[in-house]
Amino acid sequence: MSSSLLLTNCSQLVTLRGPVPRRGKALANPGIIRDGAVLIENGKIAAVGPRTEIEALPESLDAEKLDAGGRIALPGFVDSHTHLLFAASRAEEYEMRIAGASYEEIARKGGGILSSVKRLRAATEESLQQGALTALQQFAAHGTTTVEAKSGYGLDAASELKTLRIHRELKRAQPLDIVSTFLGAHVVPPEYRRRGKNADDYVELVAQELIPEVAREGLAEYCDVFCDRGAFTVKQARRILTAGRACGLQPRLHAEQLARTGATQLGVELHAASCDHLEKINRADIRALAKSDTVATLLPGCCFHLGLARYAPARELIEAGAIVGLATDYNPGTSPTLSMPMILSLACTQMRMTPAEALGAATINAAYSLGRQKQTGSIEVGKLADLAVFDLDDYREIPYYFGVHHCRLTLKRGKAIYCANDK
Ligand code: NIG
Ligand code: FE
Repeated sequence: MSSSLLLTNCSQLVTLRGPVPRRGKALANPGIIRDGAVLIENGKIAAVGPRTEIEALPESLDAEKLDAGGRIALPGFVDSHTHLLFAASRAEEYEMRIAGASYEEIARKGGGILSSVKRLRAATEESLQQGALTALQQFAAHGTTTVEAKSGYGLDAASELKTLRIHRELKRAQPLDIVSTFLGAHVVPPEYRRRGKNADDYVELVAQELIPEVAREGLAEYCDVFCDRGAFTVKQARRILTAGRACGLQPRLHAEQLARTGATQLGVELHAASCDHLEKINRADIRALAKSDTVATLLPGCCFHLGLARYAPARELIEAGAIVGLATDYNPGTSPTLSMPMILSLACTQMRMTPAEALGAATINAAYSLGRQKQTGSIEVGKLADLAVFDLDDYREIPYYFGVHHCRLTLKRGKAIYCANDK
């Protein structure tokens, strides 16, 4: 039986081919092939080009044909920042915020992340895994084929390892690629706020016990810290990220979301893969990111969901030459969405990124931030056949429509992982 597939009759094939990572003006080039086709062999892209050319290849004759019906095709989205595993929504806090309470006020009263910690610790592995599986199907239904997943609602050895082991199980149990990140330093756990222990004691637990255990079991590729007001200081983040690196976990950071702390400068100094959020960065931070290989991953879903006006300065970052990425930050507190198309809409409307820039940030630059740029993030020969077909004529319509579902088909390694029902 043939394992080749010919995806053809794509009005626009948005390839995102070209240099990696994408900075400045290069981010604005989506590499469109009109009336395009992709030949897929053994889960990988074997040929890409205009339909007439690809259909004429001898290998195409034997391939199973998949007609995109004049729709657009693009690389599957790479969601490079999610808190995939949690036990329940925080709809009650949503209502409190609408009534006027702030995210930080709720957190100080023991809600926020701590309320998700309480629920995750009490949840069974089966229910957590089931919730994540359902979410991953929805990611696929919105065109996403690779998902980074952070721990950080456990905050003790048993619950952090439980989370990371479920990530490992999910890699086997379903088709999306999952990139696992250890976020033991999300906030100081409740038991370290009493009984005479403090944040530094927890930092030492993370650095001396949790990180070596995570590395020993091979449970994560990255180590993240929520380095912000009300969470961990720059000094504590440095301690944890250097301990992580010594054990082979590459750093990434939650930086300058609530206040400007200097987290971005630390991230750049440590050659972090990514600094994420960046709503409160200053000019020096923008310059530092622009000179570095650290991706500036913007998460506009947070400002939207928290009702905040100050989005990260995407235009300044792009114009300075920083590597800009986009992600959902899927989590129950600040960004309960798994829709990358919605994130693209926010990036364009609220941060004035162009549709082409937003697409590049959500695919190839996001893949780069996860070290997956050779496998995914663009439609180029040799890469995995991770593709999404949208029921649209023009790629700019992806962000233009908001809150409307247009993903028709998602392929992961050449296999359909989502297919919309024909109406
Ligand atoms: O990326 N800021 C820290 N972590 C998450 C929020 C987590 C939560 O509120 O549960 C974020 O916004
Ligand atoms: Fe986050």
